[in-house]
Amino acid sequence: MNILEVKNLTKKFGGLMATRDVSMNVEKNSITAVIGPNGAGKTTFFNMITAVYRPTSGDILLNGKSLVGLKPHQVCHFGISRTFQNIRLFNEQTVIENVLVGMHQRLKGHWIGTLLHFPEVTREEEAAKVEAYKILQYVGLEEFVNESAGNLPYGAQRRLEIGRAIAAKPKILLLDEPAAGMNPKETRQLTDLIHDMRHRLDVTIILIEHDMKLVMKISDYLYVLDHGELIAEGKPDEIRNNQRVIEAYLGKEATQRG
Ligand SMILES: Nc1ncnc2c1ncn2[C@@H]1O[C@H](COP(=O)(O)OP(=O)(O)O)[C@@H](O)[C@H]1O
Ligand SMILES: [Mg+2]
Repeated sequence: MNILEVKNLTKKFGGLMATRDVSMNVEKNSITAVIGPNGAGKTTFFNMITAVYRPTSGDILLNGKSLVGLKPHQVCHFGISRTFQNIRLFNEQTVIENVLVGMHQRLKGHWIGTLLHFPEVTREEEAAKVEAYKILQYVGLEEFVNESAGNLPYGAQRRLEIGRAIAAKPKILLLDEPAAGMNPKETRQLTDLIHDMRHRLDVTIILIEHDMKLVMKISDYLYVLDHGELIAEGKPDEIRNNQRVIEAYLGKEATQRG
């Protein structure tokens, strides 16, 4: 069953086609990857799914219902959460407060709210804190609960973004370059976490990622963008051996890395 269907999605910024006529079908509970060189339109694609940008044309269907025209908090409410390529945490807030913000988005449907500012702690807030703590344990950050988010090591900040995103109990989790800046050990732990989330949280995962080893290991299905266009799709083995992909992406990357 397809949980997400993207139909002929085009986004223009002035004269630039950031994505052109991109279609995708994402199977429920799959791990689907979107890969491609810098500037290919991957983040723009996520920004349209999460209603940061409205598509110039095309449609996005979640379980058959169009998301186009909704506000970002409504998309979140319908079950789509994300992390950002450039980490976006509340650096001055504590780690657990950042997770509570994610939870609050689900409960109240709007951005940062009363939860962090009311002096009296209600019973619901107490329960929310217990849940937030469990999420932090799950993503391996329990040692940092009361630390300011901005003080966390980089890899831990990336995991905290995932914690915040899953606090909203999404049906679909979008991860924008989750392994960027991680060392090999952190990347391995992240791979395990992504694998585990799909079953434990009953979530569909779409990830943008440059780490080919990670992508090929964990993805069920891949879409390859280049200059805004979908140039290939398929299972990891099909993509690995696709000449167009090798030229557009893997070849270029290999050359760049020298
Ligand atoms: N808000 C914007 N205004 C103008 N151009 C943009 C905007 N966002 C992205 N772009 C352009 O769209 C193209 C795709 O960008 P992006 O989606 O960030 O690529 P990727 O994530 O694959 O590296 C790039 O050429 C980028 O400069
Ligand atoms: Mg990007």
